[in-house]
Amino acid sequence: MKNEETLDPQDWSEIRQIGHRMIDDMFNHLENLRKQPAWQPIPDEVKNQLQNQPLPSEGQNIEIIYQDFLQNIRPHPRGNIHPRYWGWVEGTGTPFSVLAEMLSAGMNSNANFGEQSSVYIELQVIDWCKEMLGFPKAASGILVSGGSMANLTGLAVARNAKADFDIQEKGLQSVESKMVLYGSSETHNSVQKAIELLGLGNESFRRIPVDENFEINIEELRKAIAKDKADGLKPFCIIGNAGTVNTGATDDLEQLADICKAENLWFHVDGAFGALAYLSENFRPKLKGMECADSLAFDLHKWMYMPYEAGCVLIRDKEKHHRTFSPSGGYLAHLPRGLASGTWLSEYGLQLSRSFKALKIWMSLREHGIEKYCRLIEQNIEQAKYLANLVEKSNNLELLAPVPMNIVCFRLVKKNLNDEQLNELNREILMRVHESGIAVPSYTTIKGKFGLRCAITNHRSRSEDFDLLIEKVLEIGKNLD
Ligand SMILES: Cc1ncc(COP(=O)(O)O)c(C=O)c1O
Repeated sequence: MKNEETLDPQDWSEIRQIGHRMIDDMFNHLENLRKQPAWQPIPDEVKNQLQNQPLPSEGQNIEIIYQDFLQNIRPHPRGNIHPRYWGWVEGTGTPFSVLAEMLSAGMNSNANFGEQSSVYIELQVIDWCKEMLGFPKAASGILVSGGSMANLTGLAVARNAKADFDIQEKGLQSVESKMVLYGSSETHNSVQKAIELLGLGNESFRRIPVDENFEINIEELRKAIAKDKADGLKPFCIIGNAGTVNTGATDDLEQLADICKAENLWFHVDGAFGALAYLSENFRPKLKGMECADSLAFDLHKWMYMPYEAGCVLIRDKEKHHRTFSPSGGYLAHLPRGLASGTWLSEYGLQLSRSFKALKIWMSLREHGIEKYCRLIEQNIEQAKYLANLVEKSNNLELLAPVPMNIVCFRLVKKNLNDEQLNELNREILMRVHESGIAVPSYTTIKGKFGLRCAITNHRSRSEDFDLLIEKVLEIGKNLD
């Protein structure tokens, strides 16, 4: 064949040179994050540049493409790597993990199965996660895109393991007694998505009321299970929260584990961020019972500060985990030797093709050691207390919920305004804080009160950053009616 082509460069020195520059630029950027706005609006002409370009028919010079990135893309991020970003629950990443991602992209391993290093590194990372979170060595696990996929994976195994019949073969259409499951009304909406996708139906999810600490009301839970059983339904799972997204509340996981044991239910814990607080000996008693979970969902891209995406699910019973995701045979049959031997990670999750997420986790854990992560998590919990204290000290601010972990919800109050007006005022304050570029809190509504919400999973934040936030909120609030 003549004129065979490739996507590799003809001139490797050109790509090497720009690559070195990209690394320098990126580290300069990360080193100077503090000087940049936490977020800034995207001007219309930039939006236009970003989304109205024609499909390139011919190749373009890589220098031009890179300049476009520097001018239009990098200046308009979400902001979650900034020291004063505390929106939703998001992670910051680290400089070394930038390099880890580059190495992983360079290898471009499809980390699905077989005799390849990416599989062994993922198994090592899963073993480390089990050790970090008090799970037995015999448990299994898999890295997934995030907490949502981790919840879906855990609940899929729960559904299959607890059905009275072969649900994988027959489907939910063959169910005799409707399967129902329980969690607090504060449970994250990714659980609802999972329940809907698993064909269980949203109405099968019993949202149990919470107490004044936003933790599941155990008596109400017991009553709901008893009623469902009396009605001929089949309770099969309880979902415990280790850190709810609204306020950071943790259910009484020990009691939930006991109920699951007594009632023969699957115990799933959504610990998207809160599970990681288990690393702290001071905080661990609050999470007692989590280590009894049948499945535990958590994220490494939140409170382990890893770059996106990095979620994980651990499953106590490896066999049940495997059975859910391993329809056998055909072109994916195992071989006794060669590349297609070894462990097939794709048989523990939905994805067949998978990126090599484990590398950044493996490199970061080795770079810093688990004790440093533990200190940073404790630092964030302390910072939440510090921020809550600033709120409580001010006559113009009020906390909307207790602060048991790393989430602080508060609002500005004015004597002459009712709740509806205060909601409007605080919404306006929040948007102005974002637009000022000073900081990014997010928001939530608690008992009808709209408030600013800081979820602190940021290793770059310092106490003075919270002073600045409060100063700005008060200043904006003063000038608004
Ligand atoms: C408690 C909880 N569960 C699940 C999720 C979903 O995680 P992810 O965004 O990684 O899919 C979140 C996200 O914030 C969460 O806070």
